[in-house]
Amino acid sequence: MREFPLTLSQFIIQSQAAYPGATGEFSSLLTQIGLVGKLIAQDLRRAGLMNILGTTGGTNVQGETVKKLDAIANDDFVRVFQASGYVCALASEEMEKPVLLPGNWPHGKYMLLVDPLDGSSNTDNNMPLGAIFSVLKYDRTDRLPTEAELICRGTEQVAAGYLLYGSSTMLVYTVGQGVYGFTLEPGIGEYLLSHERIRIPEKGTVYAANEGNYCRWSEGTKKYLDSLKVNDKATGRPYSGRYSGCLVADVHRLLLGGGIYLYPGKVDKPEGKLRLLYEANPLAFIVEQAGGKASTGTSRILEVEAKKLHQRVPLFIGSRHDVEQAEMYIQGRA
Ligand code: AHG
Ligand code: MN
Ligand code: MN
Repeated sequence: MREFPLTLSQFIIQSQAAYPGATGEFSSLLTQIGLVGKLIAQDLRRAGLMNILGTTGGTNVQGETVKKLDAIANDDFVRVFQASGYVCALASEEMEKPVLLPGNWPHGKYMLLVDPLDGSSNTDNNMPLGAIFSVLKYDRTDRLPTEAELICRGTEQVAAGYLLYGSSTMLVYTVGQGVYGFTLEPGIGEYLLSHERIRIPEKGTVYAANEGNYCRWSEGTKKYLDSLKVNDKATGRPYSGRYSGCLVADVHRLLLGGGIYLYPGKVDKPEGKLRLLYEANPLAFIVEQAGGKASTGTSRILEVEAKKLHQRVPLFIGSRHDVEQAEMYIQGRA
């Protein structure tokens, strides 16, 4: 018989067989994430031929320019999850407040936080893009969740993952039992298991950072970056610089090949740029599950106290050794 990789749904059904209480709802939720991925990938494939490049003319709650594709991706998440029934609240980078989905409650036991389109400065030049998702459980049946109930530490996540729209479309996720990657086979419209139990190398030789901000970084961050450029064959230095402008694509590269992504705070903006709840936390969950590390420079991302839906956080993420080195410089121990 012909060898054929497992589809996403087959894989989840098989994994759930290990959990006697599993209802299959989580597998359906992931299938819906996959559906959003297919919708966006379809738009991206022909973006230059349709009127969906450029900006909407508006700004989001973070004061950032909204690209047409940001708005389309956000609408896709809302529409798909409004219709699917598994999620009772959805928060997004593009919406000031979470959307409650009363029609899905109380049977929809999950809450979802998303960056619907990551790397949106890449939309107009055919560069990689992504989406990031974080899944929380909601067990109450007496009322819908409040905004405060979506604002949790990363350790509360029950699942997390990303969609990567690169030369192929991928869905990578974890439920806390390792990291699995699926590649969309466009011919049959199915995600097929392509990357089983992803493990990030202990140390890499690549760094990803927007070095244009160097003059605004702290002395520790500058020293760390400088240290990567030293000529020392034994430690693999100088490291190679690889920065795509899309966090998902950069983290995906590190997950497979090792190294570090950093978006540090600046002297006048110590909280950094990236958002804790739907960028840093889900990627930290993935990278930790693959054996890597994610830090603010001083503490573990997954333990950062979350106070606001759109809270920002400095991020150092990747191979364990590389993140630990960065922490040493930032904390003045190197
Ligand atoms: P988003 O498109 O969701 O706003 O995220 C952009 C993020 C991230 O993907 C990327 O690594 C970083 O911001 C790029 O920022 P700079 O342009 O400041 O380098
Ligand atoms: Mn983003
Ligand atoms: Mn975004």
